[in-house]
Amino acid sequence: MTVHKVGVVGAGLMGSGIAQTCAQSGYETIVREINQPLLDKGIERIHGAWDTMANKRKLTPEQVTENHARLRGTLDLEDFADCDLVIEAVIENMEEKIRLFTALDRLLKPGAFILSNTSSLNVTQMGAVTKRADKICGLHFFNPAPVMRLVEIVQTISTAPQTVEEIKQFAISLGKTPVLAKDTAGFIVNFLLIPYLIAAIRMLENGMASRDDIDTAMKLGCGYPMGPFTLLDYVGLDTTLWAAEAIYEEFKDPLYAPPPLLRRMVLSGMTGRKSGRGFYDY
Ligand code: CAA
Repeated sequence: MTVHKVGVVGAGLMGSGIAQTCAQSGYETIVREINQPLLDKGIERIHGAWDTMANKRKLTPEQVTENHARLRGTLDLEDFADCDLVIEAVIENMEEKIRLFTALDRLLKPGAFILSNTSSLNVTQMGAVTKRADKICGLHFFNPAPVMRLVEIVQTISTAPQTVEEIKQFAISLGKTPVLAKDTAGFIVNFLLIPYLIAAIRMLENGMASRDDIDTAMKLGCGYPMGPFTLLDYVGLDTTLWAAEAIYEEFKDPLYAPPPLLRRMVLSGMTGRKSGRGFYDY
């Protein structure tokens, strides 16, 4: 199936980044949010990114105009009826995802793909509530989605090999490098990244080193673009907690048990950059 029109559900940090990526790669793109202020915020973020790219001469004014024309916001899921491919990037809550997958399965044409950007939840369970489990897989982007070159394609036991092949081609058309992972919690990146982030929080809890020194150590000692606390704030402490919980739930490996400080910061609304407070203040 040739993909012409892409739907993105959710215009938060990841959803807006994914919609931006699709629209600037030439796809007619529609992005849906649950209320007008959230939709406006997401669309403004995308328009702002294109303005920045134009100021840096990475886009011509004509390209910015074309990108704007390809991107549309909506509050109504029914507007997705003629999409060839839908990527969901809503909150990491299985009940929400199942409600959404059921609704999308009912309204999309039979050949359309439904992909989840989940970083930790079971994609098999999402596919199982539809009549098209063969057309469902994970397509996991990394923050910031327009910049990070990787996507993980997550193949469930029901995903058809043909779907994997077509989604691989779609990912390449977005300028991404796809890697293939089985549907086990954490896939590839978070299975390796979460224990590292958790270990940094434990070091801080135990007073082994300061926040700034841990960040500096990993930046300058290992050449990472960000230290673990800067990255935690960037990814979101809530997202990190959900990912840790999901992997811990699946494997019961203490390496993934969320540290008390992480849970308490999330409970206090300190979710990182997006809330203005995390390990750093913004
Ligand atoms: N659209 C287009 N371009 C964008 C952009 C956007 N939305 N956001 C940033 N950019 C561009 C900038 O304009 C800049 O372009 P130039 O190099 O041409 O100037 C470039 O990206 C780099 O941005 P900055 O100059 O602002 O900052 P930087 O050089 O410090 O890089 C970074 C920022 C790319 C985020 C870098 O610090 C980095 O790679 N950090 C690590 C991020 C990471 O590990 N992400 C994965 C997290 S894990 C995850 O997401 C998965 C999960 O499930 C938890």
